[in-house]
Amino acid sequence: MGANYKLLFLILSIINISSGQETLEYYKKLINDGLQSAQNYQLHTDARMYHGDNVDMIKEYGRYDFVIIGGGTSGSVVASRLSEMNFQVLLLEAGYFSNDTFEQFLRFAKPFHMYSDLNWGYKTVPQKTGCLGLINESCLVPRGKGVGGNTLINDAIYSRGHPQNFNLWSKITGDVSWSYPKILQYFKKSENFHSTNEKAEAMLSYHGTEGELNVQHRVPDFYLTDTFLEANKELGYDITDMNRPNQIGPSIYQYYSTKEGRREDFGTVFLKPNLDKPNLKVLTGSYVTNIVVNKQTKRAHSVIFTNSGSTYRVKTDIEIILSAGVISTPQILMLSGIGPKKHLQDMGIDLIQDLNVGSTLRDQPFVDLRFSSNVKIPAESLDDQIKDYLKGVGTLTAPTVNQGVGFYNINTPPGKKPNLEVFSDIIEYSDVEKKLMGYKPEIYDALWGSNNTHISFVIENILPNSAGTVRLKSNNPYEYPLIDLNLLSDPNDTDIEVLYQGIQLILSMSETQAYQKLDLKYLSKPLPPCKSFEFRSKEYWYCFIRQTAQTAFHPVGTCPMGASKENGAVVDSKLKVFGIDGLRVIDASVFPTQVSGHPDVAALMIAEKMSDVLKFEYFSKIPDEEVTSS
Ligand SMILES: Cc1cc2nc3c(=O)[nH]c(=O)nc-3n(C[C@H](O)[C@H](O)[C@H](O)COP(=O)(O)OP(=O)(O)OC[C@H]3O[C@@H](n4cnc5c(N)ncnc54)[C@H](O)[C@@H]3O)c2cc1C
Ligand SMILES: *[C@@H]1O[C@H](CO)[C@@H](O)[C@H](O)[C@H]1NC(C)=O
Ligand SMILES: *[C@@H]1O[C@H](CO)[C@@H](O)[C@H](O)[C@H]1NC(C)=O
Ligand SMILES: *[C@@H]1O[C@H](CO)[C@@H](O)[C@H](O)[C@H]1NC(C)=O
Ligand SMILES: *[C@@H]1O[C@H](CO)[C@@H](O)[C@H](O)[C@H]1NC(C)=O
Repeated sequence: MGANYKLLFLILSIINISSGQETLEYYKKLINDGLQSAQNYQLHTDARMYHGDNVDMIKEYGRYDFVIIGGGTSGSVVASRLSEMNFQVLLLEAGYFSNDTFEQFLRFAKPFHMYSDLNWGYKTVPQKTGCLGLINESCLVPRGKGVGGNTLINDAIYSRGHPQNFNLWSKITGDVSWSYPKILQYFKKSENFHSTNEKAEAMLSYHGTEGELNVQHRVPDFYLTDTFLEANKELGYDITDMNRPNQIGPSIYQYYSTKEGRREDFGTVFLKPNLDKPNLKVLTGSYVTNIVVNKQTKRAHSVIFTNSGSTYRVKTDIEIILSAGVISTPQILMLSGIGPKKHLQDMGIDLIQDLNVGSTLRDQPFVDLRFSSNVKIPAESLDDQIKDYLKGVGTLTAPTVNQGVGFYNINTPPGKKPNLEVFSDIIEYSDVEKKLMGYKPEIYDALWGSNNTHISFVIENILPNSAGTVRLKSNNPYEYPLIDLNLLSDPNDTDIEVLYQGIQLILSMSETQAYQKLDLKYLSKPLPPCKSFEFRSKEYWYCFIRQTAQTAFHPVGTCPMGASKENGAVVDSKLKVFGIDGLRVIDASVFPTQVSGHPDVAALMIAEKMSDVLKFEYFSKIPDEEVTSS
């Protein structure tokens, strides 16, 4: 099936390419309509569109071995792997399959793709320690909606993190199966790395090359990637591969979930090839409101959801898998009576199990320094960009122009996992893009005031200590939850200090010969709210950070795994909810700490590992003759 699907895709691509002018017009319209519609898009503020009939009108939706809630990064993978066995699998997803339209162009991932129905559109409650320069002191919390979840709208950067991150998970859970040597196979399993860059050729041993998920560099490489590598060498760092165990130093971004530069969300990669299997049902447009748990036995046995205005109950014979993501997973648990006792009482929800759900929301704050230079992005008409795109190369195929990225240790001993990531790009924001980034006008005017092309350095604290919360607004399942990111709030200011040191690193980097050849100069004007501090003094930068820091859209950890619930863990090392039978959480909610990278492929790794755990645990429940060969 997989091979046929690929062949069909190839034929369709060839037909597309050969139809010339018509094809160009088709793509131009797709892009122009997409940009236009993003500009006019109003983010949703609740989920009332999913409202179903009264619960007394409930309809039965039958029984399945597994019911998976949420078809995002993790849910798509678990559903596809479980369907390889003879389990009866139902996947419930609120959104729809991607139409493969505007979202296929990674160039527009940020900020355009999140202004669409592919985003739930959450925002934080007003913030006190970060996001202060954003409108209403509120950070955007984009979360992908639809089969594929965030992979419908994200930047597709392939970043695993550092071995010590996973060895720490192993220590926190007391389960050695989370240690790096054990989980490496699950990173490689679904990966299909093909290098187009000779500098990365030597790295193949760390990558998988036989999986479904394409991983590649942007083609062609823009020369500023080399400038970044050179500048790092001047500062004493050796070039590395960001996904190899020795992660510290500069390297070249890798993108996943792309087919010759076209976004391929996880629904397309993992689920579409399996849709003709009789034992897999993917029910889109299905909004889950809660899970029903038997109060006496504490067994989770049914899922309640709405679809096209009707309310349904579906029963499970084996397990319910909650993969609704970092915001919705804790929301659904709390609506089902699983959460902090006091909060559930306040919301008028019957307590089933007292657990620290939603109490450790962790995200990675970044700031962005802008420099002027003598570099110009070569002008290229949209027609030419599309022609390149159809060959799988060029501007439209990646969210960035440059690919230079670096990982560093700040204030930690050498050899430790990195806590700082720096990414350098060349950017020409339109006024529209500036607006969509969410800053107050006086802030973005000071940051990016001139219309020059900017060299940007994104400076990101990837291992923050601060934690925020996800709480219910009420017991109404159609209300969005209250999200408090609480960035840079740790009492000793260690998180903000890492960003401050990162700024110093970049200021030194901007003075290397490599960058001075480009005549780099810091260009932002003093931010109005920070005017009382001497420009570029430490106090100024601290103020700058609290104003401009927002998140990389990498929240994790709202239902952390751990050794016991007394330590605040919500699930055990097999990702079973403490004290509840028949219910697991498999998504980025279970990260007990951030990883020194981006979270998506770690969430994928978790889904691959847990699919094996489930297959092994329940294999014997399936009569021999029913086990399909796969
Ligand atoms: C703009 C953006 C850029 C990013 N860039 C990168 C990147 O470059 N690299 C990287 O590694 N990570 C990136 N990330 C983060 C990464 O994509 C996520 O960490 C990852 O997708 C998390 O996967 P998940 O399985 O936890 O959940 P999700 O992918 O969030 O899946 C949850 C699914 O559940 C569904 N759902 C939610 N509630 C309900 C309900 N009540 N009923 C039914 N279904 C429901 C949702 O619609 C969704 O499909 C980015 C994220 C964003 C938003
Ligand atoms: C896909 O297209 C259909 C029909 O135009 C539309 O109803 C649906 O909302 C689209 N799906 C997404 C995810 O945009
Ligand atoms: C800011 O808050 C006000 C008052 O709550 C609200 O009306 C407005 O829509 C908010 N602005 C944005 C961009 O969210
Ligand atoms: C950028 O240029 C456009 C077109 O020349 C102009 O309308 C706009 O005001 C400029 N913006 C800034 C911030 O200078
Ligand atoms: C903060 O600093 C104090 C004094 O140095 C120390 O005792 C405390 O453990 C630190 N707290 C954290 C969270 O690091």
